[in-house]
Amino acid sequence: MKLWAGRFQKETDTLVNDFNSSIGFDARLYKQDIAGSIAHATMLGKQGIIEEHEAQKIIEGLKAILADIEDDKVEFSLDNEDIHMNIEALLTQRIGDAGKRLHTGRSRNDQVAVDTRLYVKEEIPVIIKQVLDLEQVLIKKAKANLDTVMPGYTHLQRAQPTTFAHYMMAYANMFKRDVTRLEDCLERLDECPLGAGALAASTYPLDRFATAQALGFKKPTDNSMDSVSDRDYAIELLSCLSILMMHLSRFSEEIVLWCSWEFKYVDLDDAYSTGSSIMPQKKNPDVAELVRGKTGRVYGSLVTLLTVMKSLPLAYNKDMQEDKEALFDAIDTVELCLPVFGAMLDTLTVRPKNMAKAASGGFINATDCADYLTKKGLPFREAYMIVGRLVNMCIKTGDTLDTLALKDFRAISSLFDEDVYEALALKTCVNERKVYGGPSKESVEKQIGLIEEFVQARQE
Ligand code: ARG
Repeated sequence: MKLWAGRFQKETDTLVNDFNSSIGFDARLYKQDIAGSIAHATMLGKQGIIEEHEAQKIIEGLKAILADIEDDKVEFSLDNEDIHMNIEALLTQRIGDAGKRLHTGRSRNDQVAVDTRLYVKEEIPVIIKQVLDLEQVLIKKAKANLDTVMPGYTHLQRAQPTTFAHYMMAYANMFKRDVTRLEDCLERLDECPLGAGALAASTYPLDRFATAQALGFKKPTDNSMDSVSDRDYAIELLSCLSILMMHLSRFSEEIVLWCSWEFKYVDLDDAYSTGSSIMPQKKNPDVAELVRGKTGRVYGSLVTLLTVMKSLPLAYNKDMQEDKEALFDAIDTVELCLPVFGAMLDTLTVRPKNMAKAASGGFINATDCADYLTKKGLPFREAYMIVGRLVNMCIKTGDTLDTLALKDFRAISSLFDEDVYEALALKTCVNERKVYGGPSKESVEKQIGLIEEFVQARQE
């Protein structure tokens, strides 16, 4: 029999029963639901809204249910729709009348809101920790490759020289922002909606500050209607996760390119790649490709929830039950991707020779050549024009700027001298880029130090 049987003259159609039910996916909130109920019951007892001994009975009952769920002794039922009604039904079955008092001054609307916030509050630190672990891998790779010169690209055309360490620190900075975004999200959602009731709070003297504190929230939410209709925190988290996945997908794309025979900048460890069922020679970067692909799922969850919430009138609407699968799937996906991506990166082998070869073939030092002339007094635009002509000449003769004879340099500008070769050496080009944030060894060491500090500050 349904809780609301008193108001109805017919049983719920089985189609509706199945359609309406969320226990299939919200069962994972059992721990949060029980914690919320224990806080609520404790407060009801303290405020004299129910008898203290009944509150005690409820709390003990809930603790026993929690233990049984964890021991896999509980089967939830579709007839009880969701995790909230399942647990309440179990409680009443077990402890009788006292169980029926638990829902005093409460609605499933504030209950689901508090459960989901508690869940997200637990998962965000897990994700932050995983991102920080990835930062450690980036630090390690960067430290080992401070002198590994490689081409930096724009338009995927060789542009200017950089190092693998500088490249790793570029990603480290993106992930650093991801961490601070997640921290901001956590900070903003740290308010407790319990006690908001269906939408208009309650006529009972509920102590919302006590329940907020008992559940580890900073404070209760300030408006009861907003409390039950707000899913901003979930959307904000999905936005953070989408941006994080966007970063992982860019990195994945680079790894897919880098381990192709055309680049061969890196080799994936055998344990982190896969073969082909037909082509015996293949070694595929499946992990990077799957991370790139799963990014679409996380974006999908964000768009799902934005669309579910679009135009919804206040306060709770059943549409909002659709928030959970999207949110859970995105969290699960990110938590699945981060460790495997980190391990893949940790175990890949860098091929400095191939990177250096690519860096020396594409006139990557052309800007440095123009800067050489500029430092000898020529206006940059004129120097730029001269080097353009030199590059054109080299392409015709199959030369590079490093191998061009001095007389050929001088045929185009008498400002060129023997010291041009030193100025154009890739090591010089990288290490002279000492500007804050640049690829020189000392500059990248500074960048690594900043990321190390950032990580350490969160491990204390
Ligand atoms: N299972 C519901 C959800 O996830 C719980 C809230 C139901 N509230 C209601 N008024 N029907 O949103």
